Parts: sequence; structure tokens; C-alpha cells
Amino acid sequence: MKRAVKTGLLLAASLLANGLHAAPAKTDPLAPTGHWSVTAKGQAPLPPMGWNSWNAFNSDIDEEKLMAAAKALVDTGLAAKGYRYVDIDDGWWLKRRQTDGRLLIRTAAFPSAQTGDGNTSFRPLTDRLHAMGLKAGIYSDIGRNSCGQAYTADFKGQPEGNVAEREVGLYDHIDQDIGLMMGEWGFDLIKIDGCGIRAMSPENKLVSSGQYRALGPLVDYENLSRTDIPAVRDLYRRVGLALARTRPANDYVLSICLWGAADVRSWAKELGNMSRTSEDISPNWERMLHNLDSASRRELYAHPNSWNDPDMLYVGTGEFDTAHIQEARSHMALWAMLNAPLIIGYDMRKATPELLSILGNSALIALNQDAGGNQAVLAYDGDTAQIFVKTLADGGKAVALLNRTGGPIDVKLTAAHLKLREDSRIDLTDLWTGAQSRFTKETNLHLAGHQTLVFRVSGARVHPGGLYLSEMPGSVNPAVDGIVEPMADPMVYRGLLPWRNTRGDGEHPIYGGWGGARADATPYGMSLRVGGVNFSSGIGALANSRLEVRNAGYRNFAARVGVDDSALSPDARVRFEVFADGRSVARSGWMKRGDQPVALNAPVEGARIIELVARGDRGDLQNVTVTWGSAALDR
Ligand code: GLA
Repeated sequence: MKRAVKTGLLLAASLLANGLHAAPAKTDPLAPTGHWSVTAKGQAPLPPMGWNSWNAFNSDIDEEKLMAAAKALVDTGLAAKGYRYVDIDDGWWLKRRQTDGRLLIRTAAFPSAQTGDGNTSFRPLTDRLHAMGLKAGIYSDIGRNSCGQAYTADFKGQPEGNVAEREVGLYDHIDQDIGLMMGEWGFDLIKIDGCGIRAMSPENKLVSSGQYRALGPLVDYENLSRTDIPAVRDLYRRVGLALARTRPANDYVLSICLWGAADVRSWAKELGNMSRTSEDISPNWERMLHNLDSASRRELYAHPNSWNDPDMLYVGTGEFDTAHIQEARSHMALWAMLNAPLIIGYDMRKATPELLSILGNSALIALNQDAGGNQAVLAYDGDTAQIFVKTLADGGKAVALLNRTGGPIDVKLTAAHLKLREDSRIDLTDLWTGAQSRFTKETNLHLAGHQTLVFRVSGARVHPGGLYLSEMPGSVNPAVDGIVEPMADPMVYRGLLPWRNTRGDGEHPIYGGWGGARADATPYGMSLRVGGVNFSSGIGALANSRLEVRNAGYRNFAARVGVDDSALSPDARVRFEVFADGRSVARSGWMKRGDQPVALNAPVEGARIIELVARGDRGDLQNVTVTWGSAALDR
């Protein structure tokens, strides 16, 4: 697949270099499609919200605990606020019956699944959840075996029987299992892990001792170049096809759980409704930061119907319990700002009013569920403090200021962070306290250790005629991001993993995505600058990229474009072109580093999809950063 893409690029580039402005070759990935390629399959126009058993109980889940959580969601009013999915994670399965391959449920834990005819069924359980106005989620693995079997075999709820009976994962059974779980049993969400294609190498003791059959591995979690990315992607693609067949009404959620491996960031948006960006979260501050970082610079890779998932909430537990109120609130506020799925992982039977007030903060939920679907963008990025700004559907803004350190700090919030005018009044409403305040130009805010202040903001926009593209990341999709070989993102905080501590030589950059397109930054996190001209707003991408932009009624596109001053190659040449529903509407000449930015203006009235193509003079250009400076859509 990757090779075909590359060949197409080289072909197109050589046609252009030879002066032949022929129609682009069919395989040219930079050719405009007039199409928004984020998946329309499944239903997650807003980030899914609910509860999952794993963080509360690991695999020791049963019907009583699950139904208690469901009842609590309804009784506390959290369900009415949007927390509707009740998801069973690992631990529900007993075995795969060998006569017909049907999965059997552990009825000792889920008595209502006993059907009397020798089968088992979750239908009575999902019926009860549905009758309560809730939705039901279940868990599987894309390989033959589960994560529990691979990594937590001492936890309860492990499959039983012989080797074949214990093969409870989807591998070789995709159609059958999806039909069973999402059809016959009536689940609405399926979370699909990848341990079975990661952990079962022939060398693994679990395999060499005869407990499990070898498979692959297709995923090397630590190493992208030793991962068979197309094979992994194809397995999930087949799940997508089975889901579409099983649920023609399109009323389901596919939750991909590949922990940022297999370069999933680059393809999940075409397949999944939410996709894990990292290792499992742990109930401690440093690992919350790790998970946050795995998603926070991926603002252009989250869109309505396909969200970044930095993992479930740990609000209520460990360093996020009510004795750690700053941390609990920060975790909640940051997940809300990132448009992360809000999936509670707490034993709801024990929830206190204080905890409920955090999880149930309506103002934060409204940010997360805002129809604009824009993940917050980092307006200030640092190891001590970060400032996240999220543009809302009504054009308003929210800002979160995070103190990553344990000690108090002062931070300056400026009008520029908010893209608001510094000569007029800016109003803030604190979303935890409701307190109102105002400032012009900049304000000093005091943050306690680990505190996140979060505000709704209003003021006069710097760009009143429309929106910068970097304010609408949910409508900008790097369909082709120009990355030649996927590389791991080195910007993720690496706090101690509780189960590993300092064993080994440390945690390495592992999540593919370095070099992906960014809002208000280059793909490598620098300020945008072309020919010495700085751009505080814009989209940073790589040469040989194609960005899709959904146009909601805007009439004009404008940007000042060029090869970014941070590009490594001084003589690579790039040509910028804008398409409206597939028609070319503006194009630059060939540009190289140091050239002054060129203005591209184009009427786009009536066009549904605008595409921004930065075509290099060679298909294999690497690290050639390009900037769509001040790119904006105007009314
Ligand atoms: C993996 C997932 C977790 C959880 C466990 C279950 O680790 O990332 O979220 O589902 O498997 O074993």
C-alpha cells in the first residue's frame, strides 16, 4: 500500500518536472477527491460518554457490578448528562465452543446470560440496559487471544478449556463474532484490542509452553518498522465491513484499542469512531500526562465520528480521588478539552457527591460535547505549563491552563493565545466556580500544583470575518500528511509505568505520528515562519500533503503559503494548490525555502470540500515543512 502511494507520487512529480501538465495519474494521492475521507461508518458525531468496567474492576467484572454502575448512571443524573454507554471490558468470556465456533459467556459472572438451550446470550442484559435508556458495549481482541491472556493471566475471568477453546479473539472469526456480539446480542459499541497480534510470538513462553498458538506478531509495540502496518489495518478494515453488514442502520461505535501502535493515528480516522493514542492510563499524575501528550498534539487527527482516545477516565481513583481534587479536576477538564471520549472507570456504587460534581460538571461536558467537534489546540506548549484553546460551534472559545508541575506557578494568558484583540475587553467565566473576570491584553493567573483553570471566553476576534483553519481542526483532515516513513513522536512525557517501574532501559518514543500536520505549529512543533514572516495562525504540514477542509457555508479561502523556514532541505521545491469540490481555484508557482510567502485567495462559495495540496518536486521529500499561513475561511 505504502509502496503504491510512493510510486504514484514519484510518477506525478516526474510528470510535472517534465513540464507535462497532464491529468494526475489515478494513483496520485495528491489528486483532489472532492470527498471528506473521515469515516462515516458508525455513530459518534460527538465523543462517546459512558462507563467501562476495566479501570474499576480489571477483568473481575460481573452482572451485579455492571448493573450497579448502570443504575448509578441513571440515578445520579449522569446518564441524562450524556454518560450512556455501559461497557463490559475483558473478563466476560468463558470459551469458544469447538463444534461451531460460538463464543460462550461466563455465566457464573453473568447469570442472565444462561439461556437454557446450551447457548449463552447477552441479549437479556443488553435489553435491560436499553430499557434503562442506556447503550451497551463489549470488548474483544483482533488476534486469537485477549490482553488478559497475554498480560494479566493472574486476573479473574480468563477463558477456560483447551488451546482452541481459549482462542476467544476475533481472528478467523470476524464475521461470526461481530454478528453474534453486535447482531444477536445487541451491543452498540465494541472495543477491539490488539494483544493477540502483539504478544503471541513463537518465543513468548506462553506460546512455547503450549498454552497459546503463535500468531505473528504483527505489532511490535516498541518499533514501527517491525510492525506490519498494512496487515494490522486490514484486520480492522475487515471488522469495519462486518459491522456495516451486521448493523446496516449504522448505529454502532467501533473503538480501536491499539495504544498508538501500528501508526494507527494515520489510519484510524478512516475506520474507527475512537482510537487509543497510548498505553493504558494509570491512576497517577505522570501517566495522565503521558496519555494527555499522546493526543494533545494530534488536534488535526480528531473529527466528528472519529476521536482521539487517550484512554478512560481515572477520576475517583489513586491520585485522582477526592483527596486530590486539583488532579481529579485537571484530568476531567483536559479530557473534556481534547474531545476525548468520557468513559468513567470508577465503581459507581461508591461515588460521592464531590466526585459526581466533577464527572457531572455540565459546563465541561458541554465543551466536550460541543457540536463544532474541535479538539483544543495548544496555544502555549511547555513542560511546565500548557495552554489549550478550543473553538466552539457558536464561535466562542474555551481555554484551559495546565500546571504540569507539583508546585505553584504564575502564568500569563494573553489575547494572542485566544486569537482575540488585545485592545478590547476579554471576559472569562471559570467553569469550576462560575466566577467572572475580565482583562485586556494579558492577565496573570495563579495555578496551584497540578491545577488546571478552565474558562469560557468571549472577546473581539482578531479575524472577525470568519475562522482560521487552526480554529476549526475538527473540519481539517490531513488525508495525506506527507510522511514517507512513520516515525515515533518524541514529545510524550514518560512518567514511571507502575507495572514496569525502572526495569529495562527506559521508555522510548513509540507512538507513530511525528511529522503529522499541526494547527499553529510546524509538524515538528516549531512556530510557523515563511521567508522570515511569522504566522501565529496557520496549518503546518509536510510537502506532498493533501488536506481536506469541510466548508460550512464560507465564501472565500485565503492563505499566505510557502516552504517553512524550518524545512531541512534548502532546494526542495513545492507548489501549493487549492481545490474546491475537486476544481483548481488557486495555485502558486514552485517555491523553495526562504521565498517570501505567496497569497492564495479563492472563491469557495457553495463548495463542500476544499483541498489544500502542497506538492513537492520529488515524491520522496522528507522533513520539508510547508506552511498555510493565516489560512482562513471567510463569510
Ligand atoms: C488492554 C487495554 C485496556 C484493557 C485491557 C484488558 O490493556 O488497553 O484498556 O482493555 O487490555 O485486558
